[in-house]
Amino acid sequence: MTELPAPRFPRLLVTGGAGFIGSCFVRDRLARRDGTQIAVLDKLTYAGNLANLAAGEADPEQAARLRFVRGDIADAAIVAPLVAGADAVVNFAAESHVDRSILDPEAFLRTDVLGVHVLLEACRAEQERAARGERAAAPRFLQVSTDEVYGSVESGESHEEDRLEPRSPYSAAKAAGELLVHSCFVTYGLDAVVTRGSNTYGPYHHPEKLIPLFITNAIDDQQLPLYGDGLQRRDWLYVGDHAGAIGHVLEHGLAGEVYNIPGGNERANREVVVRLLELLGKPWSLVRRVEDRPGHDRRYAMDGARLAALGWQNEMPFEAGLAATVEWYLHNQAWWRAIKAGEWEDYYRRQYATRLAGSRDAG
Ligand code: NAD
Ligand code: DAU
Repeated sequence: MTELPAPRFPRLLVTGGAGFIGSCFVRDRLARRDGTQIAVLDKLTYAGNLANLAAGEADPEQAARLRFVRGDIADAAIVAPLVAGADAVVNFAAESHVDRSILDPEAFLRTDVLGVHVLLEACRAEQERAARGERAAAPRFLQVSTDEVYGSVESGESHEEDRLEPRSPYSAAKAAGELLVHSCFVTYGLDAVVTRGSNTYGPYHHPEKLIPLFITNAIDDQQLPLYGDGLQRRDWLYVGDHAGAIGHVLEHGLAGEVYNIPGGNERANREVVVRLLELLGKPWSLVRRVEDRPGHDRRYAMDGARLAALGWQNEMPFEAGLAATVEWYLHNQAWWRAIKAGEWEDYYRRQYATRLAGSRDAG
């Protein structure tokens, strides 16, 4: 039997690891069977779901290396001992939905800004312990950020050194979070890296977001609320590729550096919806043109040369990824039907009732 290479970070703290991308990262890392021990800290907000980690928990070898702690990244008392036991911290925890940030911005400040500060302070305390010889090395910190910090990109591609021009409460909070990370690298020499990922899709994606909302509504022959003219452009990245790229940056990224993670699949929303309906065999007449998102960013696009130079390449072609995603939602209806109950109904009414009442044919 061939020996597995020892992981660079044998003990990981993954915050927000019960969400969409974080749980993919955890499942994929555990499935490597390289001995990595993973502690997941997650508040289990409406977006967190223990079912997302069930695959790891069902396998005894993986379950033995996974520990779940329910808690808030903004709670220093919970965070400190977990960071003390970690060689690296990967922070996925965030309020992540732009529309919810427009309805209720405050939770975004608490988690996406203050939460990041609390995690950084815990890393700083561990760095001091390392300097006193009380642990081997300071923990590495990876902040999962987003292409939305660049704001709307009318033409060309965003580079890592470009100005940040966030335009929604969500992206402003994410920008603040990553600027705190940068400040800790500059001021305290913290070993920290930042990734800026593009629009991610795939299994276990919360149905509040465009692709899973439209798939699950279409399965039930419900209306599909397309904002404005539907010509906004997003660059789609498969979740396994996003999680893989984050792992690659964790292991190989330069301290203090930011890495864009583009998908290489820029599409207008309308094009994506056409393809989803084809895959599901459902009619375009389900699509309704509704009032636009306020401040809606027209386009995101990033240059990926820095990440490519680090040796990373995405694997999933968009067509295959979209087809696999549709299949997953068709075969995992219990997962999303449980989410589309309770809190969901209030949110859906608040976000869409007036919009759908005033909607028109999407042409
Ligand atoms: P998600 O909403 O599916 O998951 C977020 C997770 O964080 C949930 O499990 C939730 O319970 C947890 N959480 C929220 N607040 C917390 C707190 N205070 N303490 C502990 N846990 C908390 O989000 P996602 O789509 O998986 O995104 C993960 C990260 O990636 C986020 O930081 C997001 O900004 C970033 N990102 C997402 C995308 C995308 O398209 N989904 C693209 C680029 C970057
Ligand atoms: O770009 C990365 C970002 O992608 C992440 O940082 C965010 O966490 C993630 O939520 C996502 O943000 P978007 O706002 O781009 O994703 P969302 O799925 O909400 O919307 C995608 C596009 O679809 C956007 O142009 C708005 C539009 N849309 C969305 C919804 C939910 C609609 O037309 N109708 C809808 O009902």
